[in-house]
Amino acid sequence: MANNNWNTALYESKHGFVWKYGEGLIELLAPQPGEYILDLGCGTGQLTAKIAATGAKVTGIDRSEEMIVKAKENYPQLNFAVADATNFTIEQPLDAVFSNAVVHWIKQPEAVINCIQQTLKPGGRFVAEFGGKGNVRQIVQALTETLANSGYDLSPQVNPWYFPSIGEYTSLLEKHGLEVTYAHLFDRPTPLESGDAGLANWLKMFAGNFLSGLSTEKEKRIIDRVITKLKLSLYCDGIWKVDYRRIKVVAIKL
Ligand code: BEZ
Repeated sequence: MANNNWNTALYESKHGFVWKYGEGLIELLAPQPGEYILDLGCGTGQLTAKIAATGAKVTGIDRSEEMIVKAKENYPQLNFAVADATNFTIEQPLDAVFSNAVVHWIKQPEAVINCIQQTLKPGGRFVAEFGGKGNVRQIVQALTETLANSGYDLSPQVNPWYFPSIGEYTSLLEKHGLEVTYAHLFDRPTPLESGDAGLANWLKMFAGNFLSGLSTEKEKRIIDRVITKLKLSLYCDGIWKVDYRRIKVVAIKL
């Protein structure tokens, strides 16, 4: 994942939708008892536990030490380890790599795909969901405009997200020896807690890179302006609906 220092309490208390939406992806994975499966970017372990409940032998990895500490606390009976998705190895060849809401945090997609390809058995599957082209477009626009209008210099690294098109991502999978059997780009308007706190918490949890280096006071000013802007388009009848666009993909190692 990106360089965020994850606030696991805020993640679990206010953003549980991240793994709740991921439950459908487990159906696409269709884990079988005894299969060796990796949960890549497991966060605090909720989906790892759901996969384990099917009888599969699952390991969860995440780049964030904070997330792995919490995952081990939540599910002490399961295997978790700190590892970087761009540079990991697994001894046991895998039947599947599963990944929910992680790929979009990593701006070196080929390094990730290469590691996945190397860990899968021939015939093994990669099943993932992540932000696709146009994901949270209005939030990105509001943040960049507000920061620029407030006099901040925006380098391209400030935006931590990689939101590819289906064409771009599936071409990378094919280039690295994975055959794409399913790919779907779809809108998934995502409700947040109501009131200003809903979007403020989302921005603090996920958009910290845009705000890093700002004093608490300046951060609050930027967040307030972004909320005012986005209320016009993303807030309706007391409910935030964030403009998520997802890609779901299944690819098989040849
Ligand atoms: C996503 O899951 O699509 C996402 C989450 C946080 C920031 C950006 C995108």
